[in-house]
Amino acid sequence: MQLLDGKSTSKAIREELSQAVHQRRKSGKKTPHLAAVLVGNDGGSLTYVGAKVKACKKIGFESTLIHKEDSITEDQLLALVDELNKDDNIDGFIVQLPLPAHIDEKKVTLAIDPKKDVDGFHPMNLGNMVLNLPGFLPATPAGMLELFKRYEIETEGKHCVVIGRSHIVGAPMSIMMGRNTFPGNSTVTLTHSRTKNLKAITLQADIIITAIGKPGFLTADMIQPGTILMDVGITRVEDDTKKKGYHLSGDVDFENVAPKCSYITPVPGGVGPMTIVSLMMNTLKAMELNGK
Ligand code: GUN
Repeated sequence: MQLLDGKSTSKAIREELSQAVHQRRKSGKKTPHLAAVLVGNDGGSLTYVGAKVKACKKIGFESTLIHKEDSITEDQLLALVDELNKDDNIDGFIVQLPLPAHIDEKKVTLAIDPKKDVDGFHPMNLGNMVLNLPGFLPATPAGMLELFKRYEIETEGKHCVVIGRSHIVGAPMSIMMGRNTFPGNSTVTLTHSRTKNLKAITLQADIIITAIGKPGFLTADMIQPGTILMDVGITRVEDDTKKKGYHLSGDVDFENVAPKCSYITPVPGGVGPMTIVSLMMNTLKAMELNGK
């Protein structure tokens, strides 16, 4: 079993990105600037957005966190998105999800200029992804593709089972793994909460991507020996033995599943850090796509 180490892989990518920013500066080009909009005070979102902004600054990007109270109206948020769309100094931005219930996430996603949509959630970018045209790939699936690339894991002809069909991870990942590229060319099964007899399907998988947010859901009896496993779950589980009062858990019963796998991502330190570097790679790509 080999760990797919997102921490060290993302570190290597951050160094490459840092070099790229340095080169840009040397040739008089603009420094990439990512903005992140956070609404409300959800603990998880605060941590994730904080990590994104911090990681950008560390590699020499400009980075701005725009934190709004959850009393912000939909119109006010749409006006903010419009401002960011028009701001020449901002190259890419994200609006962290989920948003409070009184705000329509779809409306907000649609309002983001596709050329600045470094999350890759706008239908224009999702369409480009399906057609394999230039655009932004959603950060978490793109981070997993990068792991396949860097560890030189062959995906062609393999049966990839995706668990969870969220718009952010499961649905785009299922499409990306089926495209005629590397990584890709897999035979894909997208499973979800209505899937019958999931275990019969996961037992046929060469690759499993799990993204449902249920700690310890995937157990050792559900996989065949040699499975390649990517665990996108990252749930806070109450834990009195920890200073913070919780620990982070993936969707996989890691202790019992890992020994059966050929490759597996740990939680934390697997897919999570790759998501953040994907966002930064997308921001750099935004500069190129926008001719800056
Ligand atoms: N919420 C959970 N993951 C993400 C992400 O990748 N982007 C945004 N904007 N919100 C999220």
